[in-house]
Amino acid sequence: MKENLSQKLFDLSNKVIVLTGSAGRLGSNFAHILGDAGANLILVDIDYKKNEKIEKIISKKFGIKTICSNADITKKAELEELCKLSVKKFGRIDGLVNNAFYSPRTNIKNSAMKFEEYQSDLWNDVVSVNLTGVFLCCQIFGKIMSKQKTQSSIVNISSIYGINGADQRIYGKSKLNSPPSYAATKGAIVNFTRYLAAYWNKKNIRVNTMTLGGVLDESYMDKKFIKNYSEKTIIGRMANSDEYNGALLFLLSNASSYMTGANLVLDGGWSAW
Ligand SMILES: NC(=O)c1ccc[n+]([C@@H]2O[C@H](COP(=O)([O-])OP(=O)(O)OC[C@H]3O[C@@H](n4cnc5c(N)ncnc54)[C@H](O)[C@@H]3O)[C@@H](O)[C@H]2O)c1
Repeated sequence: MKENLSQKLFDLSNKVIVLTGSAGRLGSNFAHILGDAGANLILVDIDYKKNEKIEKIISKKFGIKTICSNADITKKAELEELCKLSVKKFGRIDGLVNNAFYSPRTNIKNSAMKFEEYQSDLWNDVVSVNLTGVFLCCQIFGKIMSKQKTQSSIVNISSIYGINGADQRIYGKSKLNSPPSYAATKGAIVNFTRYLAAYWNKKNIRVNTMTLGGVLDESYMDKKFIKNYSEKTIIGRMANSDEYNGALLFLLSNASSYMTGANLVLDGGWSAW
């Protein structure tokens, strides 16, 4: 009889995984692939309406257990409450994906994205979600993981703008210029990951970063920008929103059991030339 070794390697059956930003473009894809791999999911997103819709679909489709939460990751008390509820329901936490992020692009004049005019309150808002929120989630859910005997895995989501400077030449009139707070927080995540991996040595918690390239979204990206961006990648195009699912499965499962403190870069070759 066939042993299905490859399936076993990536299997997440009955694992309990916290996913932040689960109602977003990538978050909803992640929720689907983790549900398909058998994980029970704690879906965290301030957009409760969208989050609830996703929860209903995946719990029915994959027969998994879920918690749908509108906890704000910048609020320690809300995360502590959610953690308590999760441990009460599932008894443990096996994984955490820090995927939620805040981008102040909407309703902001392009000139406000200029570094010289960038407001410190915008800077602070971004830092509080993209960095402090990740810190709080790691602290609160990681505390449970550190007391468990079984293997657990944390995946922090960064961006090519966390490892490279944003090339201002590609934006033109697109109004998609990446703000300085995004670069600073996504860069910080990469080394925060290394810190935690080292801090929790011998505690059975692996901590890795997944660094992603831009995802194609024609609903708000102009053709010129898409072309300019695509030319900067070796593969010659932007990513599709489901192209990071395999890497996430890899980092959360036994397939990556000898990997911690690392940065897995998926950028279509953007940073390779
Ligand atoms: N989309 C891309 O092109 C791209 C490229 C590189 C990296 N990334 C990274 O991938 C991740 C997901 O990106 P996306 O494009 O799916 O984003 P998105 O904006 O579609 O989703 C982010 C989600 O986070 C939620 N959120 C925001 N603040 C929150 C808070 N305080 N508490 C709880 N939830 C909160 C939002 O409601 C939203 O549903 C981000 O970390 C981003 O930096 C994305």
